[in-house]
This record gives sequence, C-alpha cells and structure tokens, in this order.
Amino acid sequence: MMSLRAPAQPATGIAPASERPILALTDVHKRFGSLHVLKGVSLTVERGEVVVIIGASGSGKSTLLRCINRLEECDSGTIVINGDEITHRRANLPAIRRRIGMVFQQFNLFPHMTALENVEEGPRTVLGMDRRRARELALEQLNKVGLAYKAHSRPSTLSGGQQQRVAIARGLAMSPMLMLFDEVTSALDPELVGEVLSVMKDLADGGMTMVVVTHEMSFAERVADRVIFLDEGLILEEGGPAKIFQRAENERTRQFLRQIHWEADGAGSAPPSNEPNRKVSGAESH
Ligand SMILES: Nc1ncnc2c1ncn2[C@@H]1O[C@H](COP(=O)(O)OP(=O)(O)OP(=O)(O)O)[C@@H](O)[C@H]1O
Ligand SMILES: [Mg+2]
Repeated sequence: MMSLRAPAQPATGIAPASERPILALTDVHKRFGSLHVLKGVSLTVERGEVVVIIGASGSGKSTLLRCINRLEECDSGTIVINGDEITHRRANLPAIRRRIGMVFQQFNLFPHMTALENVEEGPRTVLGMDRRRARELALEQLNKVGLAYKAHSRPSTLSGGQQQRVAIARGLAMSPMLMLFDEVTSALDPELVGEVLSVMKDLADGGMTMVVVTHEMSFAERVADRVIFLDEGLILEEGGPAKIFQRAENERTRQFLRQIHWEADGAGSAPPSNEPNRKVSGAESH
C-alpha cells in the first residue's frame, strides 16, 4: 500500500491544512481516582490513515478514544485535531464533536426514529441543514452502507449488523474528518460481523481517516496502515500489520496475540471459527 503519511513538518511554522496530521496526541495521561489508565500516550494519525488499536481488556483503549472526542477529560498532555488543541480549556466542544464521528459497540440509535430519521437528525439539529437537504444527505449515507432500502425501518426491526451500519451512516452524515470505532462488531452475532467490517473497509478504501479499536485481527491485517499495541496505558509497540502480527519485537505483544489465538496467515494455524478473528466476508447482497 502506498504511504499515506504527509512529510514531517518543522517544529516551527504552521503546516498547510492538507499536510497537518488529523490527530496528534502528546503525552496524554488519564486517571480514574488512583487508577492510572493512560500513562503518557503519544500518537500521530495522518490524513487518510487507518490506525488499529489492539490490547487486553482494561488496557485503556476505550478511554483513549473517549479522550479524543472529549467524552473523557484527560488529566495532562495535549490532543490536537487538524491543528486545533481540543484539550484547551476554552476549546469549542460542539465544534470538536462535529469533526469526529464515533461508533460504539452499542448502536445508540433512537428507537422511535426510522433509520433515515436517525441519520438526518445530526445534520438537521447540529449543522442546521434544512429538511430536504438533510434527507438527501441521509439517504446518500444509507446508500453507502447498503441500507437505502431500509430507510423507513425502525431500529427494532433491523438486525444488529444493519443497526450498526445505520450508526456508521449517522456518523458519516456529519462529514467528519476522523472516525473512531470502538469494538463496533463485538456485540454482533458472528454472521453479522462481516457486513459491518466490509462497510468499514469501504470507508478506509475511500480515504477516511480512522482509529479503530477491534479484536478482529483479520480486519486489522487487511485494512490497517498501522497497528498499535496498547498495554496498561502505554503504547508498547506499533508498526505495519505484517510487523506486529508476524514479527512483533515485544514479548508482551506476542503473548497478547497468542492469548487471543491469533496467528497471522502463513505464520501458523487458522483461528477457530468462533473466535473473534473471523475473516471479512462481503456485505449482504440484495
Ligand atoms: N468512568 C470510569 N470510572 C472509573 N474507572 C474507569 C472508568 N472508565 C474506565 N475505567 C477503568 O479504566 C480502565 C481502562 O478501561 P477501558 O474501558 O479504557 O479499557 P479497554 O481497553 O477499552 O477494555 P475493553 O477491551 O474491556 O473494552 C479499566 O480498569 C476500567 O475499569
Ligand atoms: Mg473498551
């Protein structure tokens, strides 16, 4: 895959917008009481990059994503989105959240609204778009996730995979510069995982900048530009998927991959089919 990284910028001088990293974390710390969850995370994500974060339960993956759109406040360090420091006291929170789409394990759709209404709600209420434009935009996004034909269905009548795709369409409708995904397939029945990963792969192929927390290692292997292993609140190792999955330098990384029964293609046996390492299958056809 071609490199999507912009050239490094000098420490002084303002980089042109097109060359700024979309996301830059510097020495981010987060504590919950005496629990030190993030212990100095520094990370830069370039425009168009897909970064997959892996790590054991409790290592701080969700906390890290939540700090990025300020659902959590970090205690120290800085987070800069496209040149603006969002950790600043006077940062404009609504403006920050408009730029970042986040999709969670639980779909968080409004149950009383149709798929279309769920997707057009943000553009209408947050961006102040008129009803007709918002509707057109929402349909376009539903089409992107293969669900235009379910536009008038309520979430309760959709499968988990379909609901999650509506949630992705809802995020996309805000034209975010960055999408965050937190284990978006973990609550799905195995047969529904592929259709959601397939939508995410399409997004990545379309150039969306994405930070993805997932246990779907086969997805990471195929889609990630960079894989980050978070261990007890620190980035212990990062690199391309081939390096992390086949030639991890750190014993803890290798141990984690062994624990989740993941061995990359060609490096060992295939994972059992009911383990969280399924191969990406195509979206449903209709
Ligand atoms: N609001 C909170 N208050 C107190 N402790 C919290 C809070 N949120 C998370 N923690 C703790 O912080 C640690 C990191 O949690 P986090 O949810 O970031 O882990 P994770 O890597 O996402 O784990 P998982 O893979 O299970 O989702 C855990 O020990 C968790 O119990
Ligand atoms: Mg989590």
